[in-house]
Amino acid sequence: MARLQPRDRVGLVGTGMVGASFAYSLMQSGVANELILIDADAARAEGEAMDLNHGLPFVGPMRIRAGGYELLAGCDLVVITAGANQRPGQTRLELLQTNAGVIRDIVPKVVAANPRGVILVASNPVDILTRIAADLARLPPGQVFGSGTILDTARFRYLLGEHFGVNPQSVHAYIVGEHGDSELPVWSMANIAGVRLADVSAADGSGVDRATLDQIFERTRMAAYEIIQRKRSTYYAIGLGLLTIVEAVLRDQHTVLTVSTPMRGTFGVDGIALSLPTIVGLGGAENVLEIPMSADELAAFRRSGEILEAQLDSVR
Ligand SMILES: NC(=O)c1ccc[n+]([C@@H]2O[C@H](COP(=O)([O-])OP(=O)(O)OC[C@H]3O[C@@H](n4cnc5c(N)ncnc54)[C@H](O)[C@@H]3O)[C@@H](O)[C@H]2O)c1
Repeated sequence: MARLQPRDRVGLVGTGMVGASFAYSLMQSGVANELILIDADAARAEGEAMDLNHGLPFVGPMRIRAGGYELLAGCDLVVITAGANQRPGQTRLELLQTNAGVIRDIVPKVVAANPRGVILVASNPVDILTRIAADLARLPPGQVFGSGTILDTARFRYLLGEHFGVNPQSVHAYIVGEHGDSELPVWSMANIAGVRLADVSAADGSGVDRATLDQIFERTRMAAYEIIQRKRSTYYAIGLGLLTIVEAVLRDQHTVLTVSTPMRGTFGVDGIALSLPTIVGLGGAENVLEIPMSADELAAFRRSGEILEAQLDSVR
């Protein structure tokens, strides 16, 4: 009898803190049948595969292997989490020179081994690296995309949930634009159960004032700096965010997530990748939603694109 081939095969390039956290959440999720681990530090990838495999008796069967790019053949999706991370006080954009080189090294090898799968970039600065990856991969639109502001949106929803005393899953609010300093909150759409935040009372019964909301956004924007100051890097939340994206792709869920895709004229932005609420399914980032934003929000979104475009020019 012919052996069944494993399906839902995921590749991961970069098995540092972010990659390993994603792998750890993936193995517990039951979302994929097989995970391929690749890293420039081959021993590190091998060690992670061993450690993760030893946990399988606790969570259920899956195939986890480390090795070379040839193992990526047949992957439905490859996640890239390789590259330098921020040092305390360093911005994501300051990683650009180093990590543009990392992406230029990795993407052609991924595509050569696996010409058809979806590619999800998480390395920073994710928006610029997504654009570079998309140019190199030459796959249909949406098949190369970035994790974008998925983590910022999660941080924002968590902080709003805490303030209003509501499960963050019931808070509908988005951070869009750059995954970085020029990102912006879409206050005009933020709501709990369809009620605008301005009309919801805080957990302590007080009304909501502009300054408090601005402070919540500022804490969102600065969260990575605060965590890196304390524990050098951030990885658990992005690991779970990547799992959410991967699940949306493998299960063709059509989940709306703030992932980053090269813009094709949306709100007048062209070329650079930015985050907007996007329908994610088997084809990757399938449909970017042109959400109604206020004039100020639109201006800030376009400014975010201009900042990234200038940075992209510096590594062209
Ligand atoms: N998108 C997000 O929201 C988000 C959140 C946190 C971190 N990050 C980014 O994720 C990236 C990884 O962070 P980390 O904390 O895991 O770093 P890390 O230093 O722990 O791991 C990086 C790994 O990449 C590997 N690597 C470097 N160059 C490579 C290459 N050319 N080919 C294959 N592997 C290579 C290294 O050997 C290392 O194992 C950083 O760029 C970081 O800024 C993104």
